[in-house]
Amino acid sequence: MTAVHDISAIRQFLPCATPQAWIDWALQHPDILLIDHAHCEKKAASTALNLMFRYVDRPELLDTLSQLAREELLHFEQVLQLMRQRGVQYDHLSPSRYAQGMRQGMRTDEPGRLVDVLIVGAFIEARSCERFAALAPFVDDELGRYYRFLLKSESRHFEDYLALARQYAGEDISGSIARFAEIERGLVESEDVEFRFHSGVPAVAC
Ligand SMILES: [Fe+2]
Ligand SMILES: [Fe+2]
Repeated sequence: MTAVHDISAIRQFLPCATPQAWIDWALQHPDILLIDHAHCEKKAASTALNLMFRYVDRPELLDTLSQLAREELLHFEQVLQLMRQRGVQYDHLSPSRYAQGMRQGMRTDEPGRLVDVLIVGAFIEARSCERFAALAPFVDDELGRYYRFLLKSESRHFEDYLALARQYAGEDISGSIARFAEIERGLVESEDVEFRFHSGVPAVAC
């Protein structure tokens, strides 16, 4: 499967494209873009590891997410390296409301909880992938090349999460996907006061 094919599958999966206002906002905050990207890679590894601790009786999940976590940590190291080359200092950032907003739609009973965590994982990977593709033409050559390189692994992560969700649901998950798609659209299209990798569009005062 080619990267071009992958990104079209991702655009089909997501409820909307990233608004141009977010892309413009990102270009005004190149340091935060890199710092929050580093946080996102680290958080993606941490989420995968948490699932591996919680669901030790799911062999496919352990195999898939162990590899995924290693790849996310590798991305983390690569972003840190880019930041060092550019003199951008790593720092704490308040989390965007995206992940928390998505989590609010999750069921608490099993296996619904696991399936929903995996579906949310698929959305986060898909949106990240779509944003890298959206940013690539507007950033400098080095960053653009790196974002295009990331598309391949992040689109595979999206497919991995979705395949695990389907496997463990034991039933059709299109209703759950549609539910999270509406939440996701709301988070992407509504206003945020702080720029983050997964933020919505800038509030009028920004
Ligand atoms: Fe990554
Ligand atoms: Fe990923």
